[in-house]
Amino acid sequence: AGLMGSGIATVLADKGVTVRLKDLSLDAISKSIGYAKKVYRKGRRRYGQSGMTERLGRLSGGVDYSGFGQADVVIEAVLEKMDLKHQMIADIEKHTRREAIFATNTSALPITEIAAKAAHPERVIGMHFFSPVEKMPLVEVIVTDKTDPVVTKTISQLSRKMGKHVIVVRDCPGFYTTRVLAPYMIEAVYMMMEGYRIEDIDRAATEVGFPVGPITLMDEVGIDVGQKVLATMRKHYSDHMDFPPDHIQAFIGEGRLGKKTEKGFYLYEKGGRSKMDKGRKLVDESVYQHLPNGTQTRNADFEEMGERLVLSLVNEAVRCLEEGILLSAEAGDLGAVFGIGFPPFQGGPMRYVDRLGSRNITARLRDLELRFGKRFKPTAKLVEMGAHDLSFYGE
Ligand SMILES: NC(=O)c1ccc[n+]([C@@H]2O[C@H](COP(=O)([O-])OP(=O)(O)OC[C@H]3O[C@@H](n4cnc5c(N)ncnc54)[C@H](O)[C@@H]3O)[C@@H](O)[C@H]2O)c1
Repeated sequence: AGLMGSGIATVLADKGVTVRLKDLSLDAISKSIGYAKKVYRKGRRRYGQSGMTERLGRLSGGVDYSGFGQADVVIEAVLEKMDLKHQMIADIEKHTRREAIFATNTSALPITEIAAKAAHPERVIGMHFFSPVEKMPLVEVIVTDKTDPVVTKTISQLSRKMGKHVIVVRDCPGFYTTRVLAPYMIEAVYMMMEGYRIEDIDRAATEVGFPVGPITLMDEVGIDVGQKVLATMRKHYSDHMDFPPDHIQAFIGEGRLGKKTEKGFYLYEKGGRSKMDKGRKLVDESVYQHLPNGTQTRNADFEEMGERLVLSLVNEAVRCLEEGILLSAEAGDLGAVFGIGFPPFQGGPMRYVDRLGSRNITARLRDLELRFGKRFKPTAKLVEMGAHDLSFYGE
């Protein structure tokens, strides 16, 4: 019942589902119900006080598994640690009916590995929400080779009942959305290390059409969460992704976890509101002390910076299609636009390739590869498409 668990429970109860929460303390449960209250208060004009009471009445919680025996679906949103996820499966299998579905909201851990210790791996599935759950319109449903198709159907239906768009993808570390976001975030870190200013990196992304820039996103999601995700990506994708030296540990050591600790790349007031000056968020200048010695501040080249951010993401999206993680180009476009805020007017990464031309995109990536290294090497599918000037949608 942390950040994600609270959001998931709030939306489920809003849509008529009875929810039982579990956490380690009653304090966590009451915070979670407080979260729901805050969201429902905003909807009171639509459904009145009685609607709010009705919704809150569907939520209850505790520190043990009482009530779980009747559950059809259990959605876990504990910390991003494999041994904890394994413990969850063991506990849930002990306390639920044999038919109950175990859905995990992990950001990047492979579902197959989570399911490896399950007595019933066919009932294990990924149900990846985005933060804040009540606002973000996508659920990424992740299936393993063992997931029962009936389970996939039930979880897709439940996600739609929650008012979300759904993409079903095959399991891999980071799935689709986290995986394509990784090179984009990594590129932002490289830019910081090259001396670009934090606000300029974010502006390069918003000028291309992203709703927020990558550094703001790191503060929002949590720098510690980002670190765990990057560790998973490093373990599995070092063949084609580059990773800057891990300075994040120093951030975590000084309690700089982002907005939630009111200490991140930007400055925050008590309560987590950004400190502003003339309509702009203020950067916490003390962050720059973590840059390598001798880093010189550079003037922004927004066009090039924007291109680096977008193309790193696009290349990985095409790789996901090539590997069969994505079942279609449409799913890749939908997932990027609704899950990670890919500029909607561009239609998604595949449509972006179509609009600029696969030949052109491949040439741009080759140019960036020469300057920045293997992380920009165009993926085989793009090279093949570029050679024949092919498009994804054939328009
Ligand atoms: N933060 C995001 O934007 C985001 C987005 C998508 C997915 N996720 C994933 O969701 C999961 C949770 O992330 P979060 O940001 O909500 O973290 P969080 O720290 O806010 O919440 C985790 C909660 O799990 C509880 N917990 C720990 N051990 C437990 C146990 N044994 N039984 C019951 N509860 C236990 C903690 O007390 C805490 O309330 C992670 O796997 C994360 O990777 C996070």
